[in-house]
Amino acid sequence: MNEESNVINANRVLIFDTTLRDGEQSPGASMTSVEKLEIARQLAVLGVDIIEAGFPAASPDDLEAVRRIAVEVGNPAAGEHYPLHIPVIAGLARATKGDIDKCWQAVRYAAKPRIHTFLATSDIHLQYKLMMTREQVIDRVREMVAYAVAYFTNAGLAPDVEFSPEDAGRSDREFLVYVLQAAIEAGATTLNIPDTVGYCTPEEYGALIAYLREHIPGAKNVIFSTHCHNDLGLATANTLAGIRNGARQVEVTINGIGERAGNTSLEEVVMALHTRSSQYGVFTGIHTQHIARTSQMVSHYTGLSVQFNKAIVGANAFAHEAGIHQDGMLKHWQTYEIMKPETVGWTASRLVLGKHSGRHAFKMRLKEMGYPLHDDELDKAFARFKQLADKKKTITDADLEAIVSDELYQPREFFTLEDMQVICGKAGMPTATICLRDAMGRKTTVAAIGSGPIDAVFKAIDEIVKAPSNLLEFAVHAITEGMDALGEVTVRLETIEEKPRTFGGHGADLDIIVASAKAYLSALNRMLAAQGTSKQDVTSTLELRTA
Ligand code: KIV
Ligand code: ZN
Repeated sequence: MNEESNVINANRVLIFDTTLRDGEQSPGASMTSVEKLEIARQLAVLGVDIIEAGFPAASPDDLEAVRRIAVEVGNPAAGEHYPLHIPVIAGLARATKGDIDKCWQAVRYAAKPRIHTFLATSDIHLQYKLMMTREQVIDRVREMVAYAVAYFTNAGLAPDVEFSPEDAGRSDREFLVYVLQAAIEAGATTLNIPDTVGYCTPEEYGALIAYLREHIPGAKNVIFSTHCHNDLGLATANTLAGIRNGARQVEVTINGIGERAGNTSLEEVVMALHTRSSQYGVFTGIHTQHIARTSQMVSHYTGLSVQFNKAIVGANAFAHEAGIHQDGMLKHWQTYEIMKPETVGWTASRLVLGKHSGRHAFKMRLKEMGYPLHDDELDKAFARFKQLADKKKTITDADLEAIVSDELYQPREFFTLEDMQVICGKAGMPTATICLRDAMGRKTTVAAIGSGPIDAVFKAIDEIVKAPSNLLEFAVHAITEGMDALGEVTVRLETIEEKPRTFGGHGADLDIIVASAKAYLSALNRMLAAQGTSKQDVTSTLELRTA
């Protein structure tokens, strides 16, 4: 890391968040560049040290998304929303000149840029994927790390170059020593040790970090980093074993999203270090009270729901069901809780506002909960609150959270739900009448019959939007207890193309059929945005249909 960040406390663990790069590689997690920017802002608020903003060589859009994050999140001038600190902005690059050039083009706008380059080192990758000898790998690493370092020195900056030997977890240790020695000699400042396929056990992974730190000449001058995948459910345990053996950077994602079974969860590692500090004796710079909100934002933007029993951020992580547990909790919270929900930003589910609460009280409560909304966002959220308060007597923080997420974390809207009516029952044919407003303000109303009310709603929406897709997942859950609970629906769609892409959407409402319509539209809007649809395209499709 450059300048002041290079001098780190020996007990400080740097948090390198790769939600926007490895996390985005989760099937179906693709995000628009605006969504990525919002997440990057939130990661800065959370106190992440390094944001891996993407893989600039993947496409011009990816390069642009990383560049925007470098400009708007990685600079002090942009700090109005997150005055806490300016994170390092990293981009990933294969060990080729072309990738490194593109990576620099994107990250150079940050006050603290980083190039993260990688090359596989396991025999299986060398033989079948790279078709390279070990000597060729060492030469390439030396040459490409030096190439990346030159960008920094030419710009008058202290180099911040990270090197990763991909599939290190299955690589020959002695060979790794030679590769990583070459990287250090060429100027790498961070050595990341990926367990790319999630194969290692904690004992093995910890021992690997210890071995490399002991045997690589110059190891003391660089930071060792962990990067663990969760194929055996061991990513957090492996990461903690790495820390115990001297790693001082951890590569993690929010909610543990990532390739296949995912990456190490940021929240799990941070809270393990926080809650069991006497065991590890290290600390991070994370502002833990922002964890829950960041988790929700990532879940909304990626369409990947958080499993209910997920540690720290799952809906049940702080819920107590058994009578004996509830009794214990009433007597003393520590009987069944090792952390306070507030520490990670879960506000207690209590009555906060009612039907007669005004805009000011609403605004203040949201501010306390960590949602400083702009006036237009506040207007929309307040209108939703009033509608809800008319129907539901007790409005809890969880309800407020759902309303705000529903208003804020929606993709660019090509279509919005203007009105709907559904007729269903035991004997009849479920029929939905849907009225949508397009981005140019035009309204279209269509009715459709389905096998059930939700099917009828989706068919009517399809009839208007005309963007073919397959429904992969449909899930409903109640946000609060009681018959008048707000329902939240998650939908995942797949495009119909040779290489299908997946898009998710969320919707919340007292009526779960309305919530379903909103969630379906939110996924379709996300799909249209990713397909590069413009407002005019949408209008001309409608004009063709009505002609
Ligand atoms: O899992 C992996 O090996 C990676 C590298 C590119 C760091 O994500
Ligand atoms: Zn990875």
